[in-house]
Amino acid sequence: MAAYAGSNGLDPTAFPSLLQMENELVGFAADLLDAPPDAVGTVTSGGTESVLLAVQGARDARPDVRQPSMVLPETAHAAFHKAAHYFGVRAVLVSVGADFRADPAAMAAAIDETTVLVAVSAPSYAHGVVDPVPEIAAAAAVRGVRCHVDACIGGWVLPYAARLGRTVTPWTFAVEGVTSISVDTHKYAYAPKGTSVLLHRSPALRRPQYFASATWPGYTMLNSTLQSTKSGGPLAGTWAVVTTLGDDGYLRLAREVLDAVDAIVAGLARIPELRLVVAPDSTLLALACDETCDPFTLTDEIASRGWYVQPQMSYGDQPATLHLSVSAATLAHVDELLTALAESVTAAKEAGPVRVDPGVVAFIEALDPSTLSDDDFDGLLAASGLMGDPVAGLALPERMAEVNALLDVASPAMREALLVAFLDRLGRPVR
Ligand SMILES: Cc1ncc(COP(=O)(O)O)c(C=O)c1O
Repeated sequence: MAAYAGSNGLDPTAFPSLLQMENELVGFAADLLDAPPDAVGTVTSGGTESVLLAVQGARDARPDVRQPSMVLPETAHAAFHKAAHYFGVRAVLVSVGADFRADPAAMAAAIDETTVLVAVSAPSYAHGVVDPVPEIAAAAAVRGVRCHVDACIGGWVLPYAARLGRTVTPWTFAVEGVTSISVDTHKYAYAPKGTSVLLHRSPALRRPQYFASATWPGYTMLNSTLQSTKSGGPLAGTWAVVTTLGDDGYLRLAREVLDAVDAIVAGLARIPELRLVVAPDSTLLALACDETCDPFTLTDEIASRGWYVQPQMSYGDQPATLHLSVSAATLAHVDELLTALAESVTAAKEAGPVRVDPGVVAFIEALDPSTLSDDDFDGLLAASGLMGDPVAGLALPERMAEVNALLDVASPAMREALLVAFLDRLGRPVR
């Protein structure tokens, strides 16, 4: 990675070794994902860029559709909403079934003449389950619509899970109708941050992803990704990791991470306050707490014991949950994790639920997220006690339970507005 940090992926003729590494990586991914011989792919900067390009390509492949839309299960990653926002492709959200998997009949029914893309997850981030890809890809194919499988977080594990004899819903290019797949190397290929692979079933499907511009006096700009000049470091680092580990290494790592997931699931039976929201298909777990235990206090408690467990806010009629992304490195520490979880549950029960001040709730409810001003935000910070010294700026609390509980009572639009205001405050130059 260091050797290639100063190289530039802008021009494959200037740095041919980068092109070779990219083609070898794409080849490895294509073999892993049952891609046909003429499949092609691109290394991008991450899952979000792969998803953005899948949506942009689908839109630009259909210039005849004036107001394009895409059909998504409501569990699709937020990157699709970013793509909708950037590229003007309306997101049609379809409710999932009781098992948190996309509902094939409802997805098929949502396809109309404006649909340029249908997307599914393998697996979804929030619940860790694989959508019924064969049924949905078939429904898209019948209508002549592209079907993208977002395997950003599971795509490098699920094929090995299948080789290990586990039951995996078919989701790769082996499924007719799947036109593109995103799989992040900077997740379960254990590569350095900054790489993902976007594969297309054929060169024709990838073509609209390319951008060229000769309408200026400099070089003809020619890009396969959103970035133009880009460091070759992440690509080289990823190539080094993937070629070093190889199929055997990934099979071993998949066995380890899946054994870790099994051990965590088994151990959860001894913590009655926690329940699995749904049995995991891969390496991600969503846990719900019973009424005796506050999830946001629990995430603080376990953080104080050295474990980062991500809180997921309540959504629709679903309560807040805890998200665990398990890796092969977790296996050696599963007992410690389960002990920390059990201790944290006890501590959270003793502490009792975090209570959001009714005055703050009323304050938030009176705000309009579409017009949230700096003054509104300052008022909220003052009311919630988050603004310490007004000169020093935001005082981040050690414990996040109160903040998370506050965000949890806000509507999704309000959560977005508050967090954008928060991020804006964090980003202030040091002069
Ligand atoms: C299913 C899925 N898609 C897309 C993304 C976005 O990936 P990134 O954070 O690399 O941009 C993620 C990230 O976790 C994901 O889980």
